[in-house]
Amino acid sequence: MSQDIKETVKEKYAEAALKVLGGEKGSCGPSGACGCDPISDNLYDTSEKSGLPEGAVLASLGCGNPTALADLREGEVVLDLGSGGGIDVLLSAKRVGPTGRAYGLDMTDEMLAVARANQTKAGATNVEFLRGEIENIPLPANAVDVIISNCVINLSADKARVLKEAFRVLRPGGRFAVSDVVCRGEVPDAVRHSMELWVGCIAGALEEKEYQRLLTDAGFTDISVEPTRVYEFTDAGIDNVLAREISGRVMGAFIRARKPV
Ligand SMILES: C[S@@+](CC[C@H](N)C(=O)[O-])C[C@H]1O[C@@H](n2cnc3c(N)ncnc32)[C@H](O)[C@@H]1O
Repeated sequence: MSQDIKETVKEKYAEAALKVLGGEKGSCGPSGACGCDPISDNLYDTSEKSGLPEGAVLASLGCGNPTALADLREGEVVLDLGSGGGIDVLLSAKRVGPTGRAYGLDMTDEMLAVARANQTKAGATNVEFLRGEIENIPLPANAVDVIISNCVINLSADKARVLKEAFRVLRPGGRFAVSDVVCRGEVPDAVRHSMELWVGCIAGALEEKEYQRLLTDAGFTDISVEPTRVYEFTDAGIDNVLAREISGRVMGAFIRARKPV
């Protein structure tokens, strides 16, 4: 089952990456009636985008702007789980400077190709894109100061394992600073199913308290979940009753936690 999810996710993001390589904007699900992408549009300001290769902006498929909210310092090591076309890795690399390092980790070869092309265009030398799965991070323990991620952990079929891996690779005192989609309160199965149709790229969003529980179980402390964008489902092409039931309960959120010293 979890292998099926992984393969489906990989196919979807390979497709999105190929679109970007062809000069189009990537997307991970159907857009709303607005013709826009209510999850990924307008997450970055003009000054952030203007300093990046166009391909990194076209490939942006996140649900937040983790580097704007994370406290990144000169010389730190950052790891982006599910780095896609590399937008947050390139932004992090600027923040940590030449004495720091920004790693991106992704399992989809086509996305890695987009990210590496963007790295070359940006001339970023303190960046490395790694091939692998966020459930098995290919880095040693205690190697990273800050873990970022943007709309990826919700895609994993084994979120508990992802959070344990994040904890393992963080140094004591290291920070988890992640944008993700979360639900507030129980979401009925039928709703969850319809929601998935619309928000293809965010299927599997965790309930907010469950997210906190899994972070605690992994060993994290100082946990907080801050909503950054609350989604309305009125233009999503789903049944009106279901839409009303979940409107305002599914959100882009910024999740912070710390590995104890
Ligand atoms: C919604 S996109 C987000 C990409 C990027 N973070 C951004 O903000 O543009 C999800 C990305 O995560 C990757 N991904 C999904 N599940 C993964 C997993 N289990 N291990 C590694 N990468 C994964 C996909 O290949 C894709 O590039």
